[in-house]
Amino acid sequence: MACHYYDPSDSSNFTVAMPRLTFGRGSLAELGARTRILARDRGVTGVIRVALVTDPHLLPTSILRAALSSLRAAQCEVAIFSELCVEADDLSVADAARFLRDARPHVVVSVGGGSVIDTAKAAMVVARYETPVNEYFAPPMGAGKSVPGPLWPHIACPTTSGTGSECTPVSVLRLTALRCKFVFASAYMLPDVAIVDPACTDALPRTMAASTGFDALSHALECYTAKPYCDWEVSADPRLRPSTQGANPWSDLLAKEVLSLCGQYLIDAVEGEQQARDKMSWAATLAGIAFGHAGTHLPHAMSYGITHLMSDIETADYPQASPFIPHGISVAVSLPAIVRFTAPGAPMRHQRAAQLLGATLDSTDPNASGALLSARLIELMAKTGLPNGLLALGFDASDLPALTESSMRQGRAIGNAPRLASSQDMQEMYRQALQHW
Ligand SMILES: [Fe+2]
Repeated sequence: MACHYYDPSDSSNFTVAMPRLTFGRGSLAELGARTRILARDRGVTGVIRVALVTDPHLLPTSILRAALSSLRAAQCEVAIFSELCVEADDLSVADAARFLRDARPHVVVSVGGGSVIDTAKAAMVVARYETPVNEYFAPPMGAGKSVPGPLWPHIACPTTSGTGSECTPVSVLRLTALRCKFVFASAYMLPDVAIVDPACTDALPRTMAASTGFDALSHALECYTAKPYCDWEVSADPRLRPSTQGANPWSDLLAKEVLSLCGQYLIDAVEGEQQARDKMSWAATLAGIAFGHAGTHLPHAMSYGITHLMSDIETADYPQASPFIPHGISVAVSLPAIVRFTAPGAPMRHQRAAQLLGATLDSTDPNASGALLSARLIELMAKTGLPNGLLALGFDASDLPALTESSMRQGRAIGNAPRLASSQDMQEMYRQALQHW
C-alpha cells in the first residue's frame, strides 16, 4: 500500500454516520421538542411514552429536573430507570432491558455519562432481540453475533465531557463474570439524536473533569495515529464494514481540532473555568464522532487490563466503592509510554499531535516525535492531577505479565495501532508506565 499515510484517491472506502446533533449551553431544554419530533415522524399520535435511562446520582439534580420538565411540557409520559453503577455492566444492561420491555417506549432517552448511554444502547439490543448481551461480543468472550436490526429511536444527552458515546455506535461494558470490559458496536446502536449541553458539566468535580478530559484527548490521539483506513481490508458488503475503520479524512479533521482544544483548555477546564469546560465539552463530542469512525488502539486496549485487575483502589470525587479506577485515568496512565512505542509507525503524526497539544518543537527530526509527545502528555497529566503511573494505582512490576495477558485479548484495537505490538512490547510499555515523573 503506497499512501502518504493514506491516499483518498485509492480504491478503499470509508463511511460517515452521525446522529442529528444539537450543541450549546441550554440545549437540554430542547429535549422535549426533539423527542416529540422523533415520535411524530414515526407516526406516534397522542401521548408519547418515553423510557428515560439515567444515573441515580443525577436524580436530585437540576439537570434531570430540566430534562423532565422539557419532556413533560411536550406531552411525554416518562418512565425512569436509574439502577446503574458508575461502570456499565451486563447486569445493569439485563435490568435495563427488562425495564424497556415493560415500558414499551416510543422513544428512549439517556441522560448521563458514557456508562448511562452505553447501558441504554446495549439494553435496547437485549430487549428488542431477546439475546443476552455477551453473545454480541467477539469470540472467545462471546458468539460474535451482529445486532439483527433497528432499535427504538434514541436521544442521548451526555452530562460529562469524555466518552462521546452520544455520537458513537459503540457500547463498552464490564462483564461481571469475567471482571473485564469489552466493546461491541453496531450501526444500529448509533443514537438518532444527540443533545450536548455543556452546562451539564459545570458541577463536575476536578478529578472527573481530568479523567473525562483525558479520555477525549486519547480518543482523538488514537484516531489521528490509528492505522490508515486503506490498510484495513474492506468488505464488499457495506453492512460488514466495522466502525473501527482506521484513520481517515473525516476522523482526521475532527481529531486535529480536538487535540488543539485539549492543548488550550484541558488544564483550565479541570480548574473549573466555565469557557474551558464548554470547549472541552465540544472537544469530547468531536472526539466521539472521530473515534466512532476511526476506532481506538493501544491506549484503550491496555486500559482494559488495568480495570480487569485493579484491586483495593478508590478515586477521589467518584462515589464508586473500591476497586474503582475511572475509564479516563485507566486510559491516560499508560499513554506517555505507548506513544514512545507507536511513534516510529507514524512519526509525522505524532509530531503534529504534540504540536497541537501545545508542545514546543525543539527539533524537526520526526524520530524525536515520540519523546516530544510523551513529554507533553506527562506535563498535562501532572498539571491536571492525574496519578503518576501504574504504581500510583496500586500495581507493581509483578503485575505486568497479568496486565499484558488480559489486554492482549483486545485484538481489533491492537490491530488498529500504527505499529503492531507483541506481548513483550506491551509488557515493556506497561513497565515504562509504572512511573512517569
Ligand atoms: Fe474512552
